Amino acid sequence: MPRNQSPRTAQPPLKLVVVGHVDSGKSTLIGCLLHDTGSPPPGKRQEGEATEVSRIRFMTGSRDCTVIDAPSPREFLRTMVSGVDCADAAILIVDAAEGVSEDSRRHAYLLHQLGIRQVAVVVNKMDLVAFGQDRFAEVAGDMSRHLSEIGIAPALAVPVSARDGDNIARRSKNMAWYGGPSVLEALERFQSVTLSMDQPLRLPIQDVGELEGRRLLTGRIETGVLRVGDTLLLSPSNKNAQVHSIKVSSAHDPVAVARAGDTVGVVLDEKIYVECGEMASHKENPPQLTTVFPASLVWNGAEPLGAGKTYTLRIATQEARIAVQSIERAFDMDTLAERAGGRVECDTFAEVILRGRQILAVDEFRAIAQTGRFALFDGGQKVAGGLISMAGYPDQRQALTVKSTNITSVAHRVTAKSRLQRNGHGGGVLWLTGLSGAGKSTLAMAVEQHLFRKGFHVYVLDGDNVRRGLNANLGFSPMDRAENIRRIGEVAALFADSGIICVSAFISPYQSDRDRARAAAGNDFHEIHIKADLETCEQRDPKGLYRKARAGEIQDFTGISAPYEEPVAPELCVDTASHTIDECVQQIVDYVNRVFALEPTAGDRDD
Ligand code: ADX
Repeated sequence: MPRNQSPRTAQPPLKLVVVGHVDSGKSTLIGCLLHDTGSPPPGKRQEGEATEVSRIRFMTGSRDCTVIDAPSPREFLRTMVSGVDCADAAILIVDAAEGVSEDSRRHAYLLHQLGIRQVAVVVNKMDLVAFGQDRFAEVAGDMSRHLSEIGIAPALAVPVSARDGDNIARRSKNMAWYGGPSVLEALERFQSVTLSMDQPLRLPIQDVGELEGRRLLTGRIETGVLRVGDTLLLSPSNKNAQVHSIKVSSAHDPVAVARAGDTVGVVLDEKIYVECGEMASHKENPPQLTTVFPASLVWNGAEPLGAGKTYTLRIATQEARIAVQSIERAFDMDTLAERAGGRVECDTFAEVILRGRQILAVDEFRAIAQTGRFALFDGGQKVAGGLISMAGYPDQRQALTVKSTNITSVAHRVTAKSRLQRNGHGGGVLWLTGLSGAGKSTLAMAVEQHLFRKGFHVYVLDGDNVRRGLNANLGFSPMDRAENIRRIGEVAALFADSGIICVSAFISPYQSDRDRARAAAGNDFHEIHIKADLETCEQRDPKGLYRKARAGEIQDFTGISAPYEEPVAPELCVDTASHTIDECVQQIVDYVNRVFALEPTAGDRDD
């Protein structure tokens, strides 16, 4: 039997949170669940205990349920962010008479932010609307639509009257038209997603040593199961080795298997170089690798959180310096109302984007809660706890993993110098980046024509063209975009190496992808930001795509439903919102003239 399973129950235990507007009937519903399952009523909150989170237990037919009961969103947020407790599923209560209020939407948003994807909508106070089927369909439909919009597929909606116990534990005679499950039955259908044993292996490395000529790693297994003979993958170094033997702190002899919760010493079959703070996993289901991720956090710093400021990030045993790239939104912790101006004072819940200098190994909180959390420190002081998301950002592991082996590089006999002498200029990459509609393609084609006429060897790689051929198998998901830009970066670097000036015109929304393209071309890389604000691009809408994206007909559209990261330090920035096309072309041509001096050519000659 899995360890987390209590012997009395056939189903793994479920941790539940009940959210809803203050008067929607939360306590009545919980009281009714306890009463109808014959569970003892919860002790009254003691004075001074008003801000505590309490845990209320009851049994459904076959399941041990715990309600994590927080007096307000503030305590619930702190509980989830600090890792004290974690909910598998939620009941979202809506008042049948009132319908879906602003407050209901805020609670739905809270569930979304906390990565709770299993949600039952309970439409309460059906007695106030004469148990009307139409009213239920209307309210349940509104709430389900809203949940779907923010990425939660509601499991089901149940019409109840918590006051009278209708459809809580037993079917309601008043709503014979309802054929779905009662609330209790709904709870039995939910999965226990936070059970640490059933999740992929995560072993954050605390210490690195040596034992009889082999590598010894120590740490505490956060999730999953580890066996002798397993291949361990270490992240972010992306190295792997086999497990030779395992010792757990609780046993004298070596063991064949260790599990979540065990503190282990793992001996590898090879003495590979591993650093403290790396995350060990299996090759299947590893953590994601990234320099940047969106996060939600509870800010506790005495100073406000600042965009551009740097802090120390800690995820399990991993530590790194990170900068706050941007503050997206800030919320009041009690009401969940959005704060105008986005100022993040002490005691604020905020959505931010964090960027590290080096690659980090991360998990999304909604996938693995134990390693999807982080803390921020400022001068040794803990200033925030937060949850990691990767929404809109690609896993960079694929781009960092070299699959081919037995490759040797071959030297050209034609040197760069002879190419330069023949062409009259060196090769290079003019990397145009910007929003769709900013003017990248228009400028690229005009610059190509201009330079060609001047005698430059020049060729344009354009998003819409390359995606018809070389990258026809790629779409617009974060991963596909990263791969799109990786290939183009490599192709552009080959063009540059061949002595040609390659002008590339791709949105290339992620800084990390552009940095990789730069690394491929080395000193020959010139990042040019084709800058126009979203409003201007949307007004231009040359292909009618913004209109479609706003109408929800295109997913992951840059600037609307997918991120665009502006270049931090481009070689050139061309503002197409306030300059004419001719002026912009001239700016790029002037830049080329400065950087690629056109010399008289050497004519044909042998090397
Ligand atoms: S990138 O993000 O991977 O760099 P790329 O420059 O190749 O994008 O392609 C962008 C072009 O594809 C846009 O100019 C637009 O015409 C089209 N397109 C289609 N779907 C999308 C989308 N979801 N987001 C952005 N552009 C899109």
